Amino acid sequence: MLWCRCGVLLALCICPLACLAVSPCPTGCCCPGFLVLCESLGLRSLPRSVPLSTSALSVARNQLCNVDHQLWPFSGLQELSLSHNLLARFPRGLPPSLESLQLQENRITYITSGVLRQLGNLTHLDLEDNRIRAIQPGALQGLHKLQVLTLKGNRLTSLPMSLPPSLTHLDLSENCISALDLPSLSALVNLQVLKINSNCLRSVPESAFDSLPRLRSVDLTNNLWVCECDILYLYRWLLS
Ligand SMILES: *[C@@H]1O[C@H](CO)[C@@H](O)[C@H](O)[C@H]1NC(C)=O
Repeated sequence: MLWCRCGVLLALCICPLACLAVSPCPTGCCCPGFLVLCESLGLRSLPRSVPLSTSALSVARNQLCNVDHQLWPFSGLQELSLSHNLLARFPRGLPPSLESLQLQENRITYITSGVLRQLGNLTHLDLEDNRIRAIQPGALQGLHKLQVLTLKGNRLTSLPMSLPPSLTHLDLSENCISALDLPSLSALVNLQVLKINSNCLRSVPESAFDSLPRLRSVDLTNNLWVCECDILYLYRWLLS
């Protein structure tokens, strides 16, 4: 913070003319380079006077309950962190320019279909440590560029349906998923890393990973494995 204030002061002293042309940093925030960081400020609403041209904004670690439709005018926003807030549902009306969205440590319980429809440019989505019980079928369908999806530490009991085939990294650890649904899994032809450790799996169905040619890492530790014939597939897959 101190560094940042000095940076701003320094810039004002050295180049008053150039700085006049640059949009001002919102009060209390910190704006190194292209970033606008408004973290840990106890905010209950979005700060005023964030420049509409902002491409990376963090309002992490505040007390935001609802930002629905308020970020829509930021038509060039590519990276957004809303992590560590009090959001009870997935924010509505986010700008379609978003590529990276951090929502970890909120209170989201459901992902309904439609809320993500306009976010076709999203490549990274982090929903770690929420309270998600269900993801409506098709909710993630339009995310044609999504590569990294983190749902660690939620309350899922099954694999989300219609996961985007573009995914390369999928983290479902620390849920209570009890079965691997083959159709959902087999669509993930680009998947490289899969984490389903700390869930409620008892076995892995025959041929579960056979249609995933890029898969190079699977974490299955800390499940409820039952040592029956079902487990033979997993045993052979691990050996190969
Ligand atoms: C989505 O990404 C493409 C390619 O980078 C870009 O041309 C397009 O403007 C982006 N869409 C939005 C709404 O920003």
